Amino acid sequence: MRLIAIWILCNLVLFFFGCGEEDLVEMQSEREAEQTTEMSGLFSDSEWAVVQGLSPLPNKPPPSPTNRVADNPDAAQLGQMFFFDARFSKDSTISCATCHSPFHGFADVEATSLGNRRGTRNAPTVLNAAYNEWQFWDGRADTLWAQALFALEGEDEQAGTRLQYAHLVHRHYQADYEAVFGPLPNLEDAARFPPDGKPGDPTFDDMSEADRIAINTVFANIGKAVEAYERLLISRNAPFDRYVAGDEEAITLEAKRGLKVFIGKGVCVLCHGTPHFRDNDFHNIGIPQDGLPEDIGRFQGVEKLLADPFNSASIYSDSRADAAQMLRLLEPRLEHQGEFKTPTLRNVALTAPYFHTGEFPTLASVIEFNNAGGTTNEFAGRSAVRVEPLHLTEQEKQDLVEFLETLTGEPPPAHLLIKPKLP
Ligand code: HEC
Ligand code: HEC
Repeated sequence: MRLIAIWILCNLVLFFFGCGEEDLVEMQSEREAEQTTEMSGLFSDSEWAVVQGLSPLPNKPPPSPTNRVADNPDAAQLGQMFFFDARFSKDSTISCATCHSPFHGFADVEATSLGNRRGTRNAPTVLNAAYNEWQFWDGRADTLWAQALFALEGEDEQAGTRLQYAHLVHRHYQADYEAVFGPLPNLEDAARFPPDGKPGDPTFDDMSEADRIAINTVFANIGKAVEAYERLLISRNAPFDRYVAGDEEAITLEAKRGLKVFIGKGVCVLCHGTPHFRDNDFHNIGIPQDGLPEDIGRFQGVEKLLADPFNSASIYSDSRADAAQMLRLLEPRLEHQGEFKTPTLRNVALTAPYFHTGEFPTLASVIEFNNAGGTTNEFAGRSAVRVEPLHLTEQEKQDLVEFLETLTGEPPPAHLLIKPKLP
């Protein structure tokens, strides 16, 4: 206030009498002094303790006991090839990278992805997905390797079949595969292993049980190699982390004010309050479904997870006991209707558009939605009680966006971002 008054006064003085050089110098140092007090006094001790709870991101994702090759470098190399190999799809045109592009923060530019057919949800980033307890917006996979299997056969994604993929591995990847996982079944025996098929297809269902398990094992191993690669797609040490570590210059004053809104008036930390910028939970925040089919989110996700023959308690898991105990606690409940997973906000500036529908093109539009406390009631279930209007000022909204932009971390090593030479 005082600065503005001096500035106006000085302009008036300048207009009538000319403003002295000393006055300008004095104004300058006064402004600097004001800014330093503003910065160091921006956070109370208890607020700063909350901020410290948001950083750093641990440098390694938690272990993945259900996948014995999760941290095997040869498996990761194989997984990188699988990730970029479009032959892993119904008509050899779609790979994981089609929708999780390294040039777009490992997410999709499109609102809902176009794979074998148009899907109904937005593709989240794969960066740091190895830290997630649940995969997908509805958490229907409880491991990264099982997640990949949904994509490989999903009608919206790659839409091929596990028999097709086993033959592909046999034809092009046999030596690399066997070095990591041991011998493939005898896929040359066409009477036992037809070229194409998955559960529901007579070609697959009519195989002996032992052969079906053998093919399922190859299929699960493809997912396990992909997971080993994804575990290397880590992005940390964002400007925000450097700021928390003590580098005052790492982020702007606007971003610091945005951080204050994030932990305070905006109540964002209620759900995004960890170093991953997400809780491990699902909420209904009332995202409008608009033209999309009704989506009941987590409710169906729990049903699908419990029914998934590749879940962490299945015979394809390398550590079943703990997983079985955890899954026993899950059941689809009514309040799960319309709940979706809280996504990470790390690298969020790279991954527009937003929300599970992908209908929010910018971070500003997301904040606008949050500020209004929801816009329509065209969504399944009931929205969480915590979703209420926030009454943010224009400045606070802009500051929040500026803060979210400081969460972009360092990219993974360059050799992980490119399509490797495929055999
Ligand atoms: C056609 C586009 C498409 C392809 C191809 C595709 N995905 Fe996805 N991916 C998506 C969409 C859309 C979602 C969210 C779907 C949902 O939640 O139901 C998703 C979700 C994920 C997630 C969960 C992330 C999270 O935070 O929940 C991971 C990990 C992932 N995909 C990895 C892969 C891998 C690995 C492959 C290849 C085997 C792959 N995807 C192929 C579109 C695609
Ligand atoms: C009640 C828990 C909750 C609170 C509070 C909350 N969020 Fe979220 N946030 C979510 C959930 C859940 C989603 C995913 C919703 C969906 O797509 O259905 C989400 C999605 C987002 C996204 C989109 C990310 C993406 O990749 O699509 C951004 C950005 C975001 N939140 C920022 C914020 C900010 C900023 C605040 C505070 C103003 C905030 N959130 C408050 C739970 C919450």
